[in-house]
Amino acid sequence: MCGIVGYNGKKNATEIVINGLKKLEYRGYDSAGISLVKDGKLITNKEVGRIKNLEESFDFSSLNSNNAIGHTRWATHGVPSKINAHPHVSNDESIAVVHNGIIENYVELRDELTEKGYNFKSQTDTEVIPNLISENYNGDILDAVFKSIDSLKGAYALGIIDGNEPDRLIAVRHSSPLIFAIDKDGYLIASDITSVIEHTNKIIYLEDGDVVDIREDSYTIYDANHNKIEREILEVDYSSQDASKEGYDHFLIKEIHEQPKVLRDVISVKHKDYKINLEDAAFTKEEIENFNKIFITACGTAFHAGEVGKFAIEKLVKVPVVAEIASEFRYKNMFIDDKSLVILVSQSGETADTLAALKEAKKHGAKVLAITNVVGSTIAREADKVIYCYAGPEISVASTKAYTTQVISLYFMAMDIALKAEKISQDEVKEIIENLEKIPSQIEEILEDKENFKEIADEIKDAKSIFYTGRSLDYITAKEGALKLKEISYIHTEAFPSGELKHGSIALIEEGTPVISVATQKDVLEKTLSNNQELTARGAKVISIIENNNVFSKDISEDIIEIPETMDLLTPLLAVIPEQLIAYYTSLLLGNDVDKPRNLAKSVTVE
Ligand code: M6R
Repeated sequence: MCGIVGYNGKKNATEIVINGLKKLEYRGYDSAGISLVKDGKLITNKEVGRIKNLEESFDFSSLNSNNAIGHTRWATHGVPSKINAHPHVSNDESIAVVHNGIIENYVELRDELTEKGYNFKSQTDTEVIPNLISENYNGDILDAVFKSIDSLKGAYALGIIDGNEPDRLIAVRHSSPLIFAIDKDGYLIASDITSVIEHTNKIIYLEDGDVVDIREDSYTIYDANHNKIEREILEVDYSSQDASKEGYDHFLIKEIHEQPKVLRDVISVKHKDYKINLEDAAFTKEEIENFNKIFITACGTAFHAGEVGKFAIEKLVKVPVVAEIASEFRYKNMFIDDKSLVILVSQSGETADTLAALKEAKKHGAKVLAITNVVGSTIAREADKVIYCYAGPEISVASTKAYTTQVISLYFMAMDIALKAEKISQDEVKEIIENLEKIPSQIEEILEDKENFKEIADEIKDAKSIFYTGRSLDYITAKEGALKLKEISYIHTEAFPSGELKHGSIALIEEGTPVISVATQKDVLEKTLSNNQELTARGAKVISIIENNNVFSKDISEDIIEIPETMDLLTPLLAVIPEQLIAYYTSLLLGNDVDKPRNLAKSVTVE
């Protein structure tokens, strides 16, 4: 989603901002722009499409500056266009603003400013901000920003520069992520760490309401009440290599291949000699006994991981768990109270819907446990306890290694609760962990079979619709397979519980319709196979994902994808790998932008 980069210091801000924007491309965007101060004058340029369009539209080499802000826009208010792209500039062309988030009262503010004589060119909510600051300006940009943000409602991370005060950059964080980074020769602001890490690893994760007044060689942070405040400077362990493709054609295929290593690492930190080690994230026996309800909430792929977590808790702890997608969670009566445990799953730790669910849970006094990948993210900071996934940076929009590490984290959490609740024994925990330890090399085995997945991709790439099916835990894996395929191939793909098809959806099956059947769960295998017979009889081309000891389905599948055998509970970790590869190769064959699929954003920071 939208990305902000800003620099104020001794180096060439123009270059730093343009390069920083390139690092944010993975978040998803449709236009980009930059404002810089040169000889006391504000210069702004914006273009639709990729950052290279912006670079080519302008002779930036002659525009060295020490102070600049840039933005990649993912359209919310108004179509992708040059006028709607950021930065937005005040009518007097003195103040430029980049904004992530949504200003909810922008219509009201725009009407008030229009009455005062301001003109609005764009369809955006953001354009009110530079004009509001201009209206409040009385010789001091910080003072004008303070007055202006007091009138803003909604979510906003802002970068602001002012031609009248060319050595100042103001940053604001309110319910939308923004980091502040300290380099030897200057300061950066950014939506995430990827665009600053090549310069410095000294990061301040700004808190809600923070405003930073950045000069070339000093800075001051103010809190939500506009009082000066010190914030901790963290030295972040993240290398710029983490954000490179390292010889792979795409981040997606690199991240798929990273899974064996990443999973080995995650499994090894979550236990010591088969004794679960969740460190500060573990609940005590008393806390566990006090919980009356357990909820899991998340979005997209993270929600599918959450559903696997629900299955694992219900199986191991033998208590019911309510799983609800985060954008619904907040608006439904979930009956949460101060004895509830609410588990949030989020790769980025910044997803607006998941964050809203967190706030809702806390409002009712619930304990909140976050399972997230990004250290220092908003969700990690606001939750009571955090289990980190340690997947490393996930750049491709389609989530792969974050999913498998989320699932592993949830298994460990479920085992920990079950053990403390005396629902399983330490021997059973050891058996599950021993099987988990085999998973990385089992994934390596699946990854060796690339040619098979390329062929399957070739067979399905021209389909009008594709279906994924499965029963029980396999249905969750089917949903993840369908999401992965549709988001990067743009082929309509839907997941159905195998047994539900005959209640309506089987009408969609035509001669040759591809159906990928996930069939790993031994207790429902025969029923799944009968459902596949029904599909084959109606012309579907069934491709089955089965464990390699399973002989039954070979007669009724046109294609078989065999995965190594594991415990039924752990099959989502293996069955998802062919799904990821099929999605990757299908997208590649169709010539799509594999890492940055259309209309999507990596970090969805608006509700
Ligand atoms: O950062 P999060 O895990 O909170 O993101 C949630 C979803 O937006 C995300 O999982 C999305 O569905 C994936 N990009 C799909 O591959």
